[in-house]
Amino acid sequence: MSQEFSSPIPTLTRSARGLLIEQVALADVAARFGTPVYVYSRAALTDAFDAYRRALGERRALVCCAVKANSNLGVLSVFAQLGAGFDIVSGGELARVLAAGGRADSVVFSGVGKSRAEMHQALEARIRCFNVESATELERLNEVAAQMDRTAPVALRVNPDVDPKTHPYISTGLRGNKFGVAFVDAKTLYRRAAALPHLRVCGIACHIGSQLLDSAPMVEAARRVLGLIDQLAGEGIHLEHVDLGGGLGIRYRDESPPTVDAYLAPLLKLFEGRPEELCFEPGRSLTGNAGLLLTRVEYLKRGEEKNFAIVDAAMNDLLRPSLYDGWHAAVEVAARDVPKCTVDVVGPICESGDFLARNRDLAVEEGDLLALLSAGAYGMSMSSNYNSRPRAAEVLVDGQAVHLVRARETMESLYALECALPSSQP
Ligand code: LLP
Repeated sequence: MSQEFSSPIPTLTRSARGLLIEQVALADVAARFGTPVYVYSRAALTDAFDAYRRALGERRALVCCAVKANSNLGVLSVFAQLGAGFDIVSGGELARVLAAGGRADSVVFSGVGKSRAEMHQALEARIRCFNVESATELERLNEVAAQMDRTAPVALRVNPDVDPKTHPYISTGLRGNKFGVAFVDAKTLYRRAAALPHLRVCGIACHIGSQLLDSAPMVEAARRVLGLIDQLAGEGIHLEHVDLGGGLGIRYRDESPPTVDAYLAPLLKLFEGRPEELCFEPGRSLTGNAGLLLTRVEYLKRGEEKNFAIVDAAMNDLLRPSLYDGWHAAVEVAARDVPKCTVDVVGPICESGDFLARNRDLAVEEGDLLALLSAGAYGMSMSSNYNSRPRAAEVLVDGQAVHLVRARETMESLYALECALPSSQP
């Protein structure tokens, strides 16, 4: 496969010093912090957020950055400073948002399995809204709020049963998915929520899937949601906000996703003149192309059938290729005057599924650096310690400045919470 460099990361350029992100040479980042290392660009994060703000214009709307896509405190603090809200799915994500300077009253809490402790934590922090995903969750939330003598702000996440036409693992708005309440049950559940004394019904939410390359399924879902809002209003249940989830896709390879403007335009049109505040929960489109994974080639290995570039990053650092067959561009950091060779870029983990990029034409030698692009979303946040590999460091570049926003894990940190048993007495 030809590897013509056309960067999906807007702030990544080629120069005499090799690849630069903003004004910083990736080779310098590797020399200073080692590899593998995630590198994010503050300008790219800011531009991605501004694209939403610009597209929303004067419309009353909140952009809640989906923390699961990238939960690094440095990254979250950039969004908090830009006035973003946050979409969380766990108590851990709430703690991160608050530690990064995010406002609790801009937090929406999604997810099908909220525990009592998480509900308590979120009520205590006074988050903006719980996106409730089942009948029993509604009852549980009312109970927890009652015990605390609080009122929980609630939206129902409805499952609109539309096909988002994306990878089955990341489709969420189909009838067969575990997410949201069935559309046919929504009215009954809203009546129930309105009757529960410790809940305050304030909105409605839906999220149909991720890496969407066309806005049509989302517009269809929004249309259904709108119909429901009007029916509920007829029963005296008035909703103040509509949360249309995240999902906008990005370019990894040759996809041509709509711009934020083009994606939002039909949705804004649908809600034109309506009083509801709109809310969005973008993840990938905010952080995906603001980050890359920098890795070093340890070995070049000739196989009988294939050649391999064995690098120091692996599936534990970036799981998307193994899990979804996700494609990330692999680019040489320094232009090399050596012949290109077709290789699989693989990690040191003991699994054949441990690949980061397959069948790529690369001009590399052992010791060279490679950048795996579009890794700012669902990269580090899905990483693990498999094979007892300390997790990578994370660095945020801002112009010429380089901030280490997560130190590389140490060997000791791998087992800091564990203990060996004393030898048993004979
Ligand atoms: N809101 C909810 C309720 C979600 O479940 C998600 C993503 C988002 C917002 C953000 O969606 P985005 O704008 O990023 O598409 N690990 C997969 C993606 C999983 C998405 C899960 N939910 C991947 O690497 O492709």
